[in-house]
Amino acid sequence: MDESRRKFINICLGGVTALAVTGIAATSYPVLSCYLIPPSDKNSTGKTTIPLDTLVPGEARFFEFNGAAAVLVRKQDGSLAVLSAVCPHLGCIVQWEMDRQDFLCPCHAGYFTADGALISGPPPRALAKIPFSVANGVVTIG
Ligand code: FES
Repeated sequence: MDESRRKFINICLGGVTALAVTGIAATSYPVLSCYLIPPSDKNSTGKTTIPLDTLVPGEARFFEFNGAAAVLVRKQDGSLAVLSAVCPHLGCIVQWEMDRQDFLCPCHAGYFTADGALISGPPPRALAKIPFSVANGVVTIG
């Protein structure tokens, strides 16, 4: 094979590889971001405040706290829990299952109670608790 033909084939293979890598990245990012990035309030740091009347009993609110995913749960009895939303197994973001009132880690089916206690699955421990206080209808986290 002469040298110019070899260069042409190498350039073509490089272009095809670049297109394939770009296509894989473009299609996988939206899927992976569902598990790796919290769905709301990505810019907050330090203390976070959430008005209590923005959550109905049984609902959860995800937010970013000190650069990591966190969640406030207003349990059906009205009590509150603030937890890290980062699964202690391999770091996926847990999802709130409102109908079951528990958390599911979609990566390997880890289940946690609304208080973050481990129910089942491979995670080695509960979701980490985050300190909070409530005053005048506002939850202050951190
Ligand atoms: S990362 Fe959550 S169960 Fe594996």
